Amino acid sequence: MHSDYSVRRARLALTASLTDEILLVGSGYSQFKPEISDQQLRYIAHQEYYYLTGLPDAIGGILAFDPKDQSAGRGENGWFSFVPEVTEADQVWEGRTQLPGAFLGEFEAWFAARQGRRVVMLGAPVPGVAIDEARTAATRSAYLHVRRRKEPGEIDLMRRCASKTVAGYTAVLPFLKAGFTERRIQIELEAEYFRRGIAHTGYDTIVGSGPNSAVFHSLPSLRTVKGGEFILIDSGAELERYVIDVTRTYVAGKPTAFQRDLYQAVQHAQERAVDRCLPGAEWKEIHFSAALDLVAGLVAMGVMYGDPESLVEQDAHLLFFPHGIGHMVGLGVRDASGLEPGRSLDTRPSLANLRMDLILRPGYTVTIEPGLYFIPALLNDPVRREKFHDCVNWSLVEKYLNLGGVRLEDSILVTTSQPENLTRAIPKVM
Ligand code: GLY
Ligand code: MN
Repeated sequence: MHSDYSVRRARLALTASLTDEILLVGSGYSQFKPEISDQQLRYIAHQEYYYLTGLPDAIGGILAFDPKDQSAGRGENGWFSFVPEVTEADQVWEGRTQLPGAFLGEFEAWFAARQGRRVVMLGAPVPGVAIDEARTAATRSAYLHVRRRKEPGEIDLMRRCASKTVAGYTAVLPFLKAGFTERRIQIELEAEYFRRGIAHTGYDTIVGSGPNSAVFHSLPSLRTVKGGEFILIDSGAELERYVIDVTRTYVAGKPTAFQRDLYQAVQHAQERAVDRCLPGAEWKEIHFSAALDLVAGLVAMGVMYGDPESLVEQDAHLLFFPHGIGHMVGLGVRDASGLEPGRSLDTRPSLANLRMDLILRPGYTVTIEPGLYFIPALLNDPVRREKFHDCVNWSLVEKYLNLGGVRLEDSILVTTSQPENLTRAIPKVM
């Protein structure tokens, strides 16, 4: 993506309204594998740094801003970029080339010349620098907010990720059968991404079959899928650090009536939640409305008893839907979730896993990912069984404890009118 990073930096400088404070944005450090090895884990620059520089691999890089130098015309309107000095060993072993900017070794003198001034720090921490916590928190909140509305180039990258992901999910359809392993499903899916020019998945692909479909971050194993089991795939392609996030649930063979009903309850809740992604909508309301729709589905199936509204008020939905309805997505799978400026954290237990408390605006990209799961760790808990004794058909739950779960997830663009489902073309088949 070609982006004018200096415009983004200028916007941050304006938003942060610094007078005397120094702003530092760290790219973060690479990590060696936790064994005796000279190989490093894949380096991922902090998204707050990448957004301002477009540099994916300036390991330990520091972007610095001095508002006083801005008026003095030093640096690029007060901005200075310190990047690692590439050594001969870096060139020989990693093929690195020198990035533009001052060498990191010069940062110490630059910083010493500004001694005594308060520091606001974004991105990854710069070691050995004390920060002003309150100003940092306020600046990060403002920065997250300006990043939320996606630029056309960002949306374009997400559309391209979506089209590669469509190809992957389409290619894997013939392998969603009994006899294939979760690993084989991952291989077929990701191979199609890679054939189409994708270098990385946006996050580690999740493939969960049978009971594993109720494990939220279940990594593909050598488990062989059995006939009639759920297969849940949560995967998205990445391009230039931009990602989409998609989940589909399938059945190996013919679904039972119970599986179909569970699937349809999730699908109905998902469609309604997507329709609610309108400008001005409150994210928490979208979450609770989806919880209500899911519980209504379970009541209709005879899994739960009572009035759906009262069940959600008692947090009974957390037995089967214990995560949030979604999160912001784009520059990374979690992107700029968080709180609407001026709000404090809503500490209700039912919102513990909701990653954001925002009002939706045009240009926001979010996931909508309701699910219903049979999770033994929750459903076998005697405290929950006692508390919700009359709300749940526990003998039916016993029967389905190993069934797994269903999640459907799409990446949605909020517009000035109807929401656009960026991942609609990924097949939903039951
Ligand atoms: N796609 C994985 C997640 O949202 O947690
Ligand atoms: Mn997600």
